[in-house]
Amino acid sequence: MNDTFLKACRGEKTDYTPVWLMRQAGRYMKEYQEVRSKVDFLTLCKTPELAAKVTLQPIDILGVDAAILFSDILIAVEAMGMPLEFHDKKGPILGDPVRTKAGVDRLIIPDTEDSMPFVLDTIRILRRELKVPLIGFSGAPWTLATYIIEGGSSKNFLHTKKMMYQNPGLFEGLLEKITATVIEYLSAQIKAGAQAVQLFDSWAGILAPYDYEHIIFPHVRTAIKALKKFDVPVIYFVNDCAGLLKIVKKCGADVVGVDWRVDMAKAAKKLGKRVAIQGNLDPCVLFAPKEHIEERVQDILNKAESAKGHIFNLGHGILPETPVENAIAMVEAVHRLSRA
Ligand code: CP3
Repeated sequence: MNDTFLKACRGEKTDYTPVWLMRQAGRYMKEYQEVRSKVDFLTLCKTPELAAKVTLQPIDILGVDAAILFSDILIAVEAMGMPLEFHDKKGPILGDPVRTKAGVDRLIIPDTEDSMPFVLDTIRILRRELKVPLIGFSGAPWTLATYIIEGGSSKNFLHTKKMMYQNPGLFEGLLEKITATVIEYLSAQIKAGAQAVQLFDSWAGILAPYDYEHIIFPHVRTAIKALKKFDVPVIYFVNDCAGLLKIVKKCGADVVGVDWRVDMAKAAKKLGKRVAIQGNLDPCVLFAPKEHIEERVQDILNKAESAKGHIFNLGHGILPETPVENAIAMVEAVHRLSRA
């Protein structure tokens, strides 16, 4: 078992810098497309044998140091009671967006074993097959709230922010319900065998720091604190994090994941010595010539040296158009250059 990733999460010394890629299983890989051509996305997520198969694809092809469960952050939202559909061009659509007290009351805090057994079965299959650690995941409370209130992706998140400002009690009640769901869902993933968990806060960066700190962050801390009773690293990925790092620093996670819009040296300095750092290559750098990819890998490795620990990753998910050979070259460069 290659435990380099887990060691780096805990801030222990490693022989080289471990690396994995957010969204490493996906459309940029022909092996994924082949599986996906036969089933729709939700069926893929809900069929343990297939979900396990696509989780495993990037491990050997890319040579990464960790696997991430193949699923989606909206699977848990569907289990809370919202009808979910994925359309190839439009992305996710959640029916009956929640904007009233009756809507919030209708949502349930699902029992994972009852309503998402396929997630736990996928984890159990993977633990038998994998030679690298398995990361479980969930959306963070705020990011899930935006999908629940908007009913899908959004441009300015007006419905969500309107509820936050016009009906703070209702919004708080919704966040509490989501946070309880996140804790139950990730606890179940850990009990089934997940060896680390990541919270995706993909939309944190659209908040004013004031609102993030006072309204959202307490729920992040509650979730992380509850998960810390298990002996597995917790990673908190904050997209567009630059203006929030002083607050994020106090989240209690083992690792903070940062996007690419912040300089790695500044992010490491702001986060301090209590937390390891994950990131932060711009996913678009994978479209550059290999020599330039290598230059940028070296730059990030240098800048992360002062951190408690470093897990190399992209600053957000890999794009579907990415040439696979460039992703392979990036992983190889991280391993080679960090050993030197
Ligand atoms: O990282 C991995 O390899 C694990 C799989 C994973 C997926 N989604 C698979 C997926 C993970 C960790 C996610 C998380 C997720 N899902 C997030 C947070 C991370 C982020 O990117 O910010 C969010 C916001 C979602 C919601 C979501 N899922 C959207 C908005 C979309 C449509 C946009 C798109 O990329 O198509 C998805 C679909 C989705 N999730 C796909 C995959 C592989 C594409 C589905 C397909 O095969 O057609």
